[in-house]
Amino acid sequence: MKQFTVAIVGLGGRGLYTYAKYQEKFPERMKIVAIADIDPEKVRYASERYSVPADFCFDSAENLLEREKLADVLIIATQDCQHRDHALAALKRGYDILLEKPVAVTVSDCIDIRDAAIRAGRSVTICHVLEFTAFFRKIKEVIKSGVIGEPVTVEAIENVGYWHQAHSFVRGNWRNDEIESPMILQKCCHDFDILSWLLDKKCLSVSSLGSLKYFKKENAPEGSAERCCDCKYAHSCPYSAYRIYFESKEMGYDHGNRDWPLNILTENPDRKSLNEAIEKGPYGRCVFHCDNNVVDHQIVSMQMEDEVTVSFTMTAFTAQNFRRVKVMGTLGEIVADQRENLVTVTPFGGESTVYDITKLADDLSGHGGGDNRMMTEMFDALEKGGTVSSSIKEAIAPHLVAFAAEESRKKKGERIFMAEFEKTNSK
Ligand SMILES: NC(=O)c1ccc[n+]([C@@H]2O[C@H](COP(=O)([O-])OP(=O)(O)OC[C@H]3O[C@@H](n4cnc5c(N)ncnc54)[C@H](O)[C@@H]3O)[C@@H](O)[C@H]2O)c1
Repeated sequence: MKQFTVAIVGLGGRGLYTYAKYQEKFPERMKIVAIADIDPEKVRYASERYSVPADFCFDSAENLLEREKLADVLIIATQDCQHRDHALAALKRGYDILLEKPVAVTVSDCIDIRDAAIRAGRSVTICHVLEFTAFFRKIKEVIKSGVIGEPVTVEAIENVGYWHQAHSFVRGNWRNDEIESPMILQKCCHDFDILSWLLDKKCLSVSSLGSLKYFKKENAPEGSAERCCDCKYAHSCPYSAYRIYFESKEMGYDHGNRDWPLNILTENPDRKSLNEAIEKGPYGRCVFHCDNNVVDHQIVSMQMEDEVTVSFTMTAFTAQNFRRVKVMGTLGEIVADQRENLVTVTPFGGESTVYDITKLADDLSGHGGGDNRMMTEMFDALEKGGTVSSSIKEAIAPHLVAFAAEESRKKKGERIFMAEFEKTNSK
């Protein structure tokens, strides 16, 4: 088995805490040989943890990419709006690439990257990690088996979760589409990818509605403060930073969590550093007093090929963060709940079969096992010369659906036809 050398640019939640960690699990497959981040603390931490020599530690992706090719594969885990420049420079240097989603933040940038990858003859894998999960693979297998007949319509929901919305889309990196990207692209290129992949059908048109309804100044409770540390609702408001980062049973420090999302507030979360981050940093701001503008709820109706329809909902206003899909076919239905990790298949007039995904997969860490499986399959494909699921060629179509859905939302639900949209928006 070949050990691949890897360079990582962007040592944040994904670069450091997801992809670098792969080496700890599979050291025979991957060796980190170069790293870059604009935060010197992250570079120092990663260089010590993964023994990367000082000459191969860089203070930016740009500086790493100034050098000749340093590794077999470049992992690009910088921010959405940086992907284009980093990917195009990496292709010029001759890297095969693992590129975080979204591919880029405009249609033409996405297409530029795809075309440059084709010209360079390099492999570019997009991190549509859901395709690599046992959960979605089981649903696809059931559809393919024919047991529910022809799928006719799908109802899908992305329950973002009130705390995840507050963390990432109100206080955090993806709060403002002028700084990063629209939420339907950032969060749901995954969903548009998986829906098309499950059904094996292209999307022909979309129509979308949604808005930022709640996380705005006018909804701030009477007498609330601009930061949680000064607020009389600090221990009663469900969106309070103290309740999310300390007290939450799911991810709070008081309940033993030391990883994401706490490690986004501070490198090595402890009581003192978390309190400081809440008092001074962006994650301690009141959710009603941030510079956010992305939606908190959005629905998308999709017309797929062969008269198949999909209705998709993304909403902040849920207790938990998970996806749920119901596929309704001519001969039966599938109800799949990612929280319960169950896929229930019921042929009409027959008995239900329940697949417990926890019994089918040995690794459900990181996006239900998708993160590690994607890395493994990418390395296998690179070694054997095959193609990996979720290559840049396949990833563009679901991105276009997200861009079109955003345009439709801005035009109050106007139906957008994908063929026309692609033609007008590509250079
Ligand atoms: N596949 C998924 O499911 C998934 C999940 C979360 C995030 N993402 C995507 O992954 C990417 C990274 O997200 P994250 O959560 O790790 O964000 P993050 O902010 O935690 O990490 C980004 C890192 O890039 C660094 N950076 C900024 N400018 C740089 C430059 N010029 N050179 C080198 N480093 C630079 C930042 O300092 C930061 O450490 C984003 O595009 C995001 O949308 C994908």
